[in-house]
Amino acid sequence: MSFLPISILIILVVNLAKAVYYDSWEGTPLTDEQRQAYENANILSTCANNIQPCDETEWRRTDGSCNNLYYPTRGAYHTPTFRILPADFREDFEPRLTSSGKEYPLARHIKNNLLTVGLATDAKLTQLSAYYIEFMAIDVVSAHDILNYIVDRPYCCKEEGKSDPMCAPNFIPEFDPVHRFSGHKCFNMTIPMTFQNLGCIENGTTPSRIDFTTTFFDLSNIYEFSAGSLNQVRSYEGGQLKYEVVNGRQFPSDASDNTTCFIKQAISTGCSRNVPNGVLGSNLFTTWFWRFHNYVAQQLANLNSSWDDERLFYTARDIVVAFHLQMFYYEFLPEILGKDNMIEDEIILGNSTGFRDIYDETVVPQIALEYAYASRWFHTIQYGAQKLFDKNFNFIKEVPMVNFSLSVQSLAVGDIMSTVTRGSYYQATGKADSTVDPDISDIGLGPVQEVFDIPTTDLAKGRYFGLPSYTKYRDFCSGYSKKHVDFDDLTDHISDEKIQQLKQVYETAEDIELMAGIWVENVIEGAQVPPTVHCLLSNQLKRSIIIDRHWYERPNRPHAFNYEQLQEIRKASLALLLCYVGDDVEKIQPKAFTIVGKGNNLVSCDEIPAIDFTHWKEES
Ligand SMILES: *[C@@H]1O[C@H](CO)[C@@H](O)[C@H](O)[C@H]1NC(C)=O
Ligand SMILES: *[C@@H]1O[C@H](CO)[C@@H](O)[C@H](O)[C@H]1NC(C)=O
Ligand SMILES: *[C@@H]1O[C@H](CO)[C@@H](O)[C@H](O)[C@H]1NC(C)=O
Ligand SMILES: *[C@@H]1O[C@H](CO)[C@@H](O)[C@H](O)[C@H]1NC(C)=O
Ligand SMILES: *[C@@H]1O[C@H](CO)[C@@H](O)[C@H](O)[C@H]1NC(C)=O
Ligand SMILES: *[C@@H]1O[C@H](CO)[C@@H](O)[C@H](O)[C@H]1NC(C)=O
Repeated sequence: MSFLPISILIILVVNLAKAVYYDSWEGTPLTDEQRQAYENANILSTCANNIQPCDETEWRRTDGSCNNLYYPTRGAYHTPTFRILPADFREDFEPRLTSSGKEYPLARHIKNNLLTVGLATDAKLTQLSAYYIEFMAIDVVSAHDILNYIVDRPYCCKEEGKSDPMCAPNFIPEFDPVHRFSGHKCFNMTIPMTFQNLGCIENGTTPSRIDFTTTFFDLSNIYEFSAGSLNQVRSYEGGQLKYEVVNGRQFPSDASDNTTCFIKQAISTGCSRNVPNGVLGSNLFTTWFWRFHNYVAQQLANLNSSWDDERLFYTARDIVVAFHLQMFYYEFLPEILGKDNMIEDEIILGNSTGFRDIYDETVVPQIALEYAYASRWFHTIQYGAQKLFDKNFNFIKEVPMVNFSLSVQSLAVGDIMSTVTRGSYYQATGKADSTVDPDISDIGLGPVQEVFDIPTTDLAKGRYFGLPSYTKYRDFCSGYSKKHVDFDDLTDHISDEKIQQLKQVYETAEDIELMAGIWVENVIEGAQVPPTVHCLLSNQLKRSIIIDRHWYERPNRPHAFNYEQLQEIRKASLALLLCYVGDDVEKIQPKAFTIVGKGNNLVSCDEIPAIDFTHWKEES
């Protein structure tokens, strides 16, 4: 925590009228000299944020700026992430060596030793749970690294890759259980994009990763998926987002030209637009929230015919973001982290449905590198087969989930949206048990890569982020009440059998990498995640409320809800969302993140309490 520097305050006051360039990394206004230097190097838009003066009464901005009035760029897109624990690199900022001074074993080797590849379904969560966490991760951390090795540097596994310092492919061990038969020797990967490798700050300083989306849970993946993209998605009529209709179904569109990722592009061409073309889960949620925005805007327009586009857009967005936060914090996360734990950690309210306000303007809005990193653990509970069901919930067939990756256009074909939607809330996800689905492990990105192992990449990324040892995170997560030095210190969360497996790949406990440790931890009681994931997620989730001036439960934010409106938002649920905008969703279980049964049976959508939008009607 820190207090606002006087200099920033002065500049705020002086520059009330015109947009100001801020250094994206420093968060302070650029001097004329700095600006000139960036312009000369043609990196002004890469290294600086151009921010209109803040107005403390305005709506939440889509680019995340001006959330904190003292640090206008903090929380905006392309600003730095922060680290919960200090980085641990080699002297030259290369990945560190083991404690005995050796290179670490290949990431794939470690993964092969610690994760079992196979099929195992969970007894509680639906496939949509794994999809939602993916979508939520993209809200706060962009997936641009993937594009980097698929589009910009398709050669990392080839000879050419050896001379490109951005390439960091993962080599496959000679006696790999799968690839000794396939002949493949390498998975594509690039090093993370940092302020250093984009030329903004000196090389030879601790690599600082760039967050290309806003820091807040504000549906960046819909409203501002890249810098300045809002005007590509708004139709500027009736508060709506641009859409196109195919066979009676509404899909996101950037209809200004014919480059939409949905239907106008032939399936064979793939799609080059960043978002919403990602993995299946995020494509589904993007489509649903996109439609929901338009649904809400239409409800508001019906109630208040004199509202202009601007007011309809921002009011609808405020409702949609609040709905999404309510659903994330009060419905989804309690299933994952345990409701009692969350109440105890003060991430959610216990029995009250009223307002709450824990905003602290002295805390700089940033997202922890470790939050995004720990979220990658959820790849191991992803079930690889997407099941399709007809409207009577009869099984039709299954399609590898990866077949939908980066080919969002396929969702617009025939009945796919209905049958996939139904499957995603009817089928269980993968079990949290150190087992990973074969598709995730071998063809994780589907047809766009010959071979790809997501967990191996997850582990390897940690090396390039310079994350310290797993034991350091255990120290942190124990509140420093316990010191973790030897393998024996780890037995409270890791079984003896798994400790043996760790010993096969790491010489000392200090060598254990964060993701490797997480993979072998026992899931904690009353929750669905390993303890270190619980700790790193909870840490950020609470901070995300504290840093957000526009948090929907605050009574003192611009355009705050009144009490009655907040009670309507409290009805938010995944089932309700799908009843509003899902394709042919007529029946659904009220708790759609958990599987049907045990008091959570399919009911008609009429039985799910809907939002009464008349609370947004303005009295004349
Ligand atoms: C750091 O090195 C990379 C190449 O590895 C280069 O592209 C970048 O411009 C350098 N950064 C600075 C500030 O010189
Ligand atoms: C976009 O597609 C429509 C028909 O699908 C066509 O009429 C129009 O000319 C196209 N626009 C451009 C810019 O290619
Ligand atoms: C909202 O709509 C109601 C009628 O539905 C009307 O009386 C009121 O004037 C409208 N207010 C605005 C600001 O449009
Ligand atoms: C709400 O919880 C508090 C303690 O957290 C308790 O004192 C109070 O009685 C509860 N109220 C209701 C209505 O359950
Ligand atoms: C999934 O993709 C693979 C590779 O492109 C293809 O061979 C297979 O037929 C697809 N499966 C289904 C069910 O569409
Ligand atoms: C690496 O990426 C390129 C571009 O997407 C792709 O053509 C190539 O097959 C990938 N290599 C492997 C081993 O998957």
